[in-house]
Amino acid sequence: MVVDGVFSMDGDTAPLAELAELCTAHDAWLMVDDAHGFGVLGERGVGSTEAAGLSPSAVPVLMATLGKALGTAGAFVAGSALLIEGLIQQSRNYIYTTALPPAVAAAAHEALLLLTEEAWRRHHLAALIRRFRQGAAQLSLPVLPSASAIQPLLVGDAIRAVTLSAQLREQGILISAIRPPTVPAGTSRLRITLSAAHSEAQIDHLLEQLAACWASSWAAS
Ligand SMILES: Cc1ncc(COP(=O)(O)O)c(C=O)c1O
Repeated sequence: MVVDGVFSMDGDTAPLAELAELCTAHDAWLMVDDAHGFGVLGERGVGSTEAAGLSPSAVPVLMATLGKALGTAGAFVAGSALLIEGLIQQSRNYIYTTALPPAVAAAAHEALLLLTEEAWRRHHLAALIRRFRQGAAQLSLPVLPSASAIQPLLVGDAIRAVTLSAQLREQGILISAIRPPTVPAGTSRLRITLSAAHSEAQIDHLLEQLAACWASSWAAS
């Protein structure tokens, strides 16, 4: 069974504990793509699997990118020595792709150290997510249920989503409008992505601008 840990367009999480149980019951392997959970979720930042209380043996194949929380590029697969050797020998994409440049590998290594040594970044991000969600609820902005750094604001109409994104950009806020076919018709959204580099003041400014643009886009439509 192959699943994302955090779904990239909704920001919600897969029920990994239940899926792991199902896999055990059916003698299947669980593979988790934790691109959006790795470095963010779990007590130590291991990701969605740690947040779900799963040991490595419950997730025989774990992959994540280095290009999101770690801020570099590339990706990794973690698993048993046999699995990794099999991939090295048999994965055509891996064999015929240029390896990570040493500088990128070194930067990823440094980011991993920061991840393990500086938990305050994760705690700060978690606090920003809470602040954003509380503020959005007070403003009655329709943010989808998500505990991750991806906080989608459901707009519905694609043109309105693009207009809102352009208005926010004019205010110095970069938020992409996500439209079909990336998401189902009628569920266009602003995909707000928070990071530990943001400040509380920026979250408040974002909420203020979202409320203003939201109201003016209704008035215009
Ligand atoms: C679930 C998932 N996996 C993998 C990736 C690929 O990440 P990257 O481009 O950093 O390799 C993405 C990118 O958004 C993603 O959402």
